[in-house]
Amino acid sequence: MSRRKMIYEGKAKILYEGPEAGTIVQYFKDDATAFNNEKHATLEGKGVLNNRISEFVMLGIGRIGIPTHFLKRLNMREQLVRKCEIIPLEVICRNVAAGSMSKRLGIEEGTPLSRPVVEFCLKNDELGDPLIAEEHITAFNWATPLEIDEMISMTLRINDYLCGMFAGVGIRLVDFKVEYGRHFDGENERTILADEISPDSCRLWDLETDEKLDKDRFRRDLGNVTEAYADVARRLGIMKESPTAIPANDEATS
Ligand code: TMP
Ligand code: ASP
Repeated sequence: MSRRKMIYEGKAKILYEGPEAGTIVQYFKDDATAFNNEKHATLEGKGVLNNRISEFVMLGIGRIGIPTHFLKRLNMREQLVRKCEIIPLEVICRNVAAGSMSKRLGIEEGTPLSRPVVEFCLKNDELGDPLIAEEHITAFNWATPLEIDEMISMTLRINDYLCGMFAGVGIRLVDFKVEYGRHFDGENERTILADEISPDSCRLWDLETDEKLDKDRFRRDLGNVTEAYADVARRLGIMKESPTAIPANDEATS
């Protein structure tokens, strides 16, 4: 909101200074982009859905003992999060070949992987978030070996938790992307889960029909994008309302 000081505007979110030191307000926009901004659209209600879905997922992940930046949801489009220094990496975990893995390695989309695969990409839009090796991360000091170990083990635990959570509502977790941050608390520094987990950052397929319920509907022009996100929210028991009932205005409160 305009009365707050904006810290950063990303493609799908805006960060504002929070009400207390060490906090940030994370605002979920309706904007959707793909292929590094080549494709752009406003999907009415997407921000509201991602705010709610990400809240639900972050709370669940917190309950299994993984530290996250999430503090509380403030309203339909905003959540209060802990301030942290984002580690400039996108950590991807895959259970089934799809997307860039299928393209790069020539593996048919939908092929189950014999074990979850964790990949690191450099968070750099200009370079198109290139896939990198752990050696690049340590050579260029993007993260320490300890942080790499922590990110891999947390990502695999998140994957186990989310696979079960989604399977319980008839959804296959194909892959997802997470980001981590360094949280400073006096002398202590720890690695925490940051950003969001939503259908923007996961591939979610219906278990029975393989119907896509995620941002690939936008990337691949499949239509009914927010309807699919609302379906995910409904299945998780988060939102009962239909997407048309979601107010687009910023001041809306829950
Ligand atoms: P990919 O197959 O295109 O590399 O995507 C892997 C996962 O990461 C998929 O669930 C979508 C997610 N993702 C993001 O959240 N942000 C991005 O910029 C990209 C390219 C993928
Ligand atoms: N988030 C990326 C972009 O905005 C790509 C994607 O999600 O496919 O271009």
